[in-house]
Amino acid sequence: MDKIVALCKRRGLIFPASEIYGGIANTYDYGHYGVLLKRNVVDAWWDAMLQERDDVVALDSAIIQHPKTWESSGHLAGFTDPLVDCKTCKKRFRADHLAEARENPDSQPEIRCGRKPSQLPGDTPDCDLTEPREFNLMFETAIGPVQGGGTRVFLRPETAQGIFLDFKTVLTFARRRPPFGIAQVGKSFRNEITPGNFIFRTLEFEQMEMEFFVPPDQAADWYEHWKQARFDWYVKLGLRPDHLRLRDHDEDELSHYSSGTADVEYLFPIGWSELEGIANRGNFDLTAHGNGSGKAIEVVDPELGRYVPHVIEPAAGVGRSMLAFLADAYDEEELGTAEKSDIRTVLRLHPKLAPVKAAILPLVKKDGQPELAAEVQSLLKARMQTEYDEGGSIGKRYRRQDEIGTPWCITIDHESLEDRTVTVRDRDSLQQERIPIDQLADELSLRLARPWVSPKVAG
Ligand code: GAP
Repeated sequence: MDKIVALCKRRGLIFPASEIYGGIANTYDYGHYGVLLKRNVVDAWWDAMLQERDDVVALDSAIIQHPKTWESSGHLAGFTDPLVDCKTCKKRFRADHLAEARENPDSQPEIRCGRKPSQLPGDTPDCDLTEPREFNLMFETAIGPVQGGGTRVFLRPETAQGIFLDFKTVLTFARRRPPFGIAQVGKSFRNEITPGNFIFRTLEFEQMEMEFFVPPDQAADWYEHWKQARFDWYVKLGLRPDHLRLRDHDEDELSHYSSGTADVEYLFPIGWSELEGIANRGNFDLTAHGNGSGKAIEVVDPELGRYVPHVIEPAAGVGRSMLAFLADAYDEEELGTAEKSDIRTVLRLHPKLAPVKAAILPLVKKDGQPELAAEVQSLLKARMQTEYDEGGSIGKRYRRQDEIGTPWCITIDHESLEDRTVTVRDRDSLQQERIPIDQLADELSLRLARPWVSPKVAG
């Protein structure tokens, strides 16, 4: 994990927020390459949810909803974590994480007593832990200019509820009948006590959620469908299948709304952890908002009559997916000799996810090479994200691109000026081949569209 965090900072992908003030807990900013990677992850999700299907529509609902939303959804009463405070070291811990750490000391490596970092909280005579208290995870604020007055509202802790509130409206304009889904990507907020772990668990995070509404007797089949479809999405985007698994929740793990949940888990550097949850929410949410608003939320079907649809929900985190893609892609390759080590750090990302697809590198900053490089870049620009770099030795420039996962480096040399060909260096195989400039855009577009398997799997 330390190496991934260091690389993300060094190359400006992801770094602590408010750093000039010393940072703020569990909050990160995304720089240029981080934004590009994030956009590619989200695009890949929209492709799978919308473009490649015809039974899902998109939505972008508000972050601040009517406060009754959270009463009806159960979040106000039930969206809590049990917390204990240590009166001596003044740190706060999740009681369930502490219990896990006692059972399996490796499962929670960062839960340590603030005064004696080698020990678990409660294990030293100095520790003075309070009894666990339930603490609501929703961030609260107020609408209205008056300090202490106004209407108490909440920042949404999941994007899902906006979808349920809009279900009837969407039903009308999208002219759909279940089974169909409503998909949304956006920020959610949770006042989490976390043991760190970079962007795995943060206070604000983007979710990619889809609520799939089905007739009740189809819920079991659609639940199985979405579990497999979501698992396959990660494999298609290059995650090693032996680092992925589907795990069904035990009864005592289920959220208040769920009658069945499975997690897609990834073998993160911190161990097997949830990447995405797929939940069978039954008719809990639509019934709750129907009761809360006094307006029944039902579907009238010519064959099935009047009924409340059931909901299957695949809910993923953008940042957490990015962390899995980064962890899976991170590689160090020894290119040196027995006498002198030379480690190449490379992000073996799926080309579709790579922030930059092609780097355009003139060998020298003269003799017309920069001008030809600019021409090559303008040919590629309309099709893919490119980057121009003429600073430093070619070896150093290759290594820079390897570290951000650029699949192809295009080198312009003196030969290019004579025969209008360029060298294409492949990030993973390190093979170089010459390609005519007028075929380059088509060739790289073809490579981008091809199925891709991580060289870590392919060997
Ligand atoms: N609507 C259901 C729901 O929100 P969840 O399991 O609490 O379910 C879904 O969240 C996904 O959102 C998680 O699998 C994870 O990827 C992401 N997520 C949840 N809390 C997060 C946090 N504090 N920081 C980063 N990602 C988070």
